[in-house]
This record gives sequence, structure tokens and C-alpha cells, in this order.
Amino acid sequence: MLCANESCIISLDRRWTVNDEDKAEGNQQIVENLDNKEIAIDIRHLTKTYKVKKKVVKAIDDISLHANAHEFVSIVGPSGCGKSTLLKILAGLESLTTGEAWVFNKKIDGPGADRGMVFQTYTLFPWLTVRKNIEFGLRLKKYSKKKCKEIVDYFLEMVSLEKFANAYPKELSGGMKQRVAIARALANNPKVFLLMDEPFGALDAQTRSDMQQLLLEIWKKEKTTIVFITHDIEEAIFLSQRVYVMKAHPGKIAEELNTDLGMFEKGELVKPTDFFQMKKKNTSFLCSENNKILLLKTNDH
Ligand SMILES: Nc1ncnc2c1ncn2[C@@H]1O[C@H](COP(=O)(O)OP(=O)(O)OP(=O)(O)O)[C@@H](O)[C@H]1O
Ligand SMILES: [Mg+2]
Repeated sequence: MLCANESCIISLDRRWTVNDEDKAEGNQQIVENLDNKEIAIDIRHLTKTYKVKKKVVKAIDDISLHANAHEFVSIVGPSGCGKSTLLKILAGLESLTTGEAWVFNKKIDGPGADRGMVFQTYTLFPWLTVRKNIEFGLRLKKYSKKKCKEIVDYFLEMVSLEKFANAYPKELSGGMKQRVAIARALANNPKVFLLMDEPFGALDAQTRSDMQQLLLEIWKKEKTTIVFITHDIEEAIFLSQRVYVMKAHPGKIAEELNTDLGMFEKGELVKPTDFFQMKKKNTSFLCSENNKILLLKTNDH
């Protein structure tokens, strides 16, 4: 539950103070924020090449894309189209070759606390309990014990892991580990919440569906900006307001889709006809891209 008390440390520390009255008026407030369209992520004419044994591999070729503040944007594309490379550049873990990458009007020049990340594989510290994992970044920021506890309790409740606060990662299921990873990323109060390659890819179908719902709830509640990478067009349409579809060799944006069915309808009232039309169109596109890759590979031999 969100902290209803205005004097609560967490609510003071977060970008928005949300109380019960805000919740009643929440829709309007969020719609106004969305209307302002502050740009969170801005990529301009980005190119990335790798050199492998004197051979130059163009992983990304002249990509421009953006994510507005509070927007949920997915990037979907066939294997090898440069999704991971793009996210690594956004995360500041990889340099770009030409072009520009900005986060909230600041050029990306390395990793930063303004961006939170959740990886496909589990990345919790195995020697720390769930609570200590979530508070790790807060301790680095030298937050007091009391403040750390309050923030961690808030996120433990959000991901329904209050009873596992003192458990170690090895005692958790895959879905629970990813919930801790999400809580840890959000506890640092990032402006942009980057979810790297298929964060739910290793989960079984039911847990994956639960995690998708949880992510949508967090997004609506926290009003964070999400850039989500997936192979799965169905997941992209279900979750996001906009989808960039990429093609490979070299990695380019092939299409930009408006998949917004209304922020408050996302994950709830998806019209089957809209959903299946979007899915059909883009699945066939991805299949044809994958076939092209197979053909290229076959011709190489
Ligand atoms: N460190 C690297 N050195 C050389 N080439 C690389 C490196 N990293 C990626 N590449 C190449 O860049 C291209 C894009 O790779 P990337 O991992 O970004 O693709 P992807 O879309 O994430 O694929 P997948 O869906 O399979 O994870 C590929 O051709 C890959 O071989
Ligand atoms: Mg990848």
C-alpha cells in the first residue's frame, strides 16, 4: 500500500507525493503529466560498430527513438538486431560509436542512479538477505538505518515479500528473485526504470503473467518511465504504450507502433480484436525478419 501519511519519509523522498486524495484524482494528474511529454530517453542517429578480428560488425545503424517521462515503451526484434547493445548503451555500460544518447537532457556518459535495471538472469547478491539486497544502494547513499528500513518495508510490501525479508536468495523461487530485483532497482528512486532483455524470460507462464501484472501496477503507482526489451510481441503489446519493432543486420528501427489502449486499461480491458490484429501484423513481420536471417546464414555456408 502507498504511504498515506504526508509526513512519511518515503513520500517526501519520492518524485510525487501520493495520498488517498491524489489516488481519487490520480487519473487526471497522470494524464496531465503525460500531456507535458517531458522526454526521458532520447536517442539520436545512434550507430554502434564492433571490431572483431579486423572485421567491423555494425550492430546498430542510425537508430533514433525516444521515451517520454512516465511512458512504458517496449523494444522488440529478432535475435541479433541489437536490443541488448542498445540497452547497454542506455545503461551506460557500453559506449556508442556515433550519434547521441540522452537521459532527461543529460548526455549518457556512464552508469547512473537515475537508471534502474533488472537483468534476465538473477543478479541478487547471494550472501545478503532480501532486505539487505534491497537496501544496498540506499546504504551507499548513506541513508540512516531508520530511513532505509522505511523504504525497504515499502517496497517489500509492494512486491508482496514482507515475510521473506530475512531470507537469502537461494531460498527464493525465480519469480520471487525477480521481484526482489525490481524492488531493489526501484528503491534507488530511478527516473528511468530499464528492464533489460526479457526480465521475465526465465519464468514459467503463470509466474510471468503475474509479474507482468505486478509491473503494470508498479508503473501506474510509481509513474516511472519504463524501457522494456523483449522477443515477445504479445508481451510488448500487452504491457506498453508504444513499441519499437527492430530488424537485424544491421539493427534498425523498422516500425513504431502505438499500442496504447489507455493507461488505465493496460492489462485490464484489452479488446481482443485490437490485440490480435496488432499481434498478427507484427508476428508476421518478425517471422519474415527471422527468415531473412536464416537465409543469410544459409547463404554464408
Ligand atoms: N561485444 C561484442 N563484440 C562483437 N560483436 C558484438 C558484441 N556484442 C554484440 N555484438 C554483435 O552485435 C549484434 C547485436 O547483438 P545484440 O546482443 O545486441 O543482439 P540482441 O538483439 O540482443 O540479440 P538476442 O535477442 O539474441 O539477445 C550481433 O550481430 C552481435 O553479434
Ligand atoms: Mg540480447
